[in-house]
Amino acid sequence: MRFGLIGAGRIGRIHGGNVAQRSGTTLALVADADAKAASNLAAATGATVADIATIMAAKDIEAVLICAPTDLHADLIEAAAGAGKAVFCEKPVDLSSERIRACLAKVEKAKIPLMIGFNRRFDPNFAALKQRMNEGAVGNIEIVTIISRDPNPPPASYVARSGGLFRDMMIHDLDLARFLLGEEPIAVTAVGSSLVDPEIGKAGDVDTAAVLLETKSGRICQISNSRRATYGYDQRIEVHGSKGMIRAGNVHETTVEIAGSTGFLADPVQNFFLERYANAYRLELDAFIAAVEAGKAPSPSGEDGLRAQILADAATHSCQTHQRIAIEA
Ligand SMILES: NC(=O)c1ccc[n+]([C@@H]2O[C@H](COP(=O)([O-])OP(=O)(O)OC[C@H]3O[C@@H](n4cnc5c(N)ncnc54)[C@H](O)[C@@H]3O)[C@@H](O)[C@H]2O)c1
Repeated sequence: MRFGLIGAGRIGRIHGGNVAQRSGTTLALVADADAKAASNLAAATGATVADIATIMAAKDIEAVLICAPTDLHADLIEAAAGAGKAVFCEKPVDLSSERIRACLAKVEKAKIPLMIGFNRRFDPNFAALKQRMNEGAVGNIEIVTIISRDPNPPPASYVARSGGLFRDMMIHDLDLARFLLGEEPIAVTAVGSSLVDPEIGKAGDVDTAAVLLETKSGRICQISNSRRATYGYDQRIEVHGSKGMIRAGNVHETTVEIAGSTGFLADPVQNFFLERYANAYRLELDAFIAAVEAGKAPSPSGEDGLRAQILADAATHSCQTHQRIAIEA
């Protein structure tokens, strides 16, 4: 399968490298508004630099990887759908649910495969946890707890155009919540503060947040987010059910521990998403390729992108108004 990639930045370099390293796939064309970013990735992967129109028009390009900034995703998905390409698009589809709906209508009409990059579903630890939940390890699910804390806050300039913590950061956890709960949330209650960086508060965003999700049968999910964790990228899940509890902890830089009279000392947890989710990025790409080759709809789908966005919008609204927000079915 021959790929074209748009956006050769942080995440584009990961996906582009993974396509190039796999057997059976080729990263053929790379486009980026920054010529140096495009030529660096092309040189590293054996691809050719091209513009977006050339990628869309290329008859021998079967799939497009969209790794450009968020505000370009919906337009690029529509262009690729019009050209009949399979699309893997980074999260989020867009910051507006209305725009996502319009985009998904065009995808539906064009009948192209579309997968959204909710990589955490593919993390081997989280995937194993989900597998055991599916096998009944904890019985009926009652409370899901998701902890997600970044090592450092992003610059306030990034925050200003990010859509806010709930749409930019918690969107991953909201997708994971739907994945784990096995039922759609019917209500969202959110609180948030600016405790880490006053500049984030001045930019109108929060850097510390907690969300409660409720499902129709009464299952509860609690999500804890922070833009700071002094010990690395804190990524944990715990699921409590009628038969017991299942959890997946952090991944440390090494498994080395030093013990002394004051206790045990372990290495920090892996620093951030590029390290922590390296396997997940490879495995989500494998899943996309397998689905396209088998003629099946990839998962997570565009609809999953929309559902997570609706929850992120509701969380933003709840945080701003101090109200519990009901979610339409
Ligand atoms: N799933 C994940 O874990 C994850 C992680 C990081 C980023 N993301 C998502 O990926 C997207 C990109 O984020 P990033 O951190 O790689 O950003 P980035 O800024 O590092 O890279 C974006 C690239 O797109 C290029 N670009 C900008 N405008 C363009 C245009 N008009 N045409 C072509 N290229 C253009 C930029 O020059 C840059 O090289 C965002 O939507 C972000 O939300 C997802």
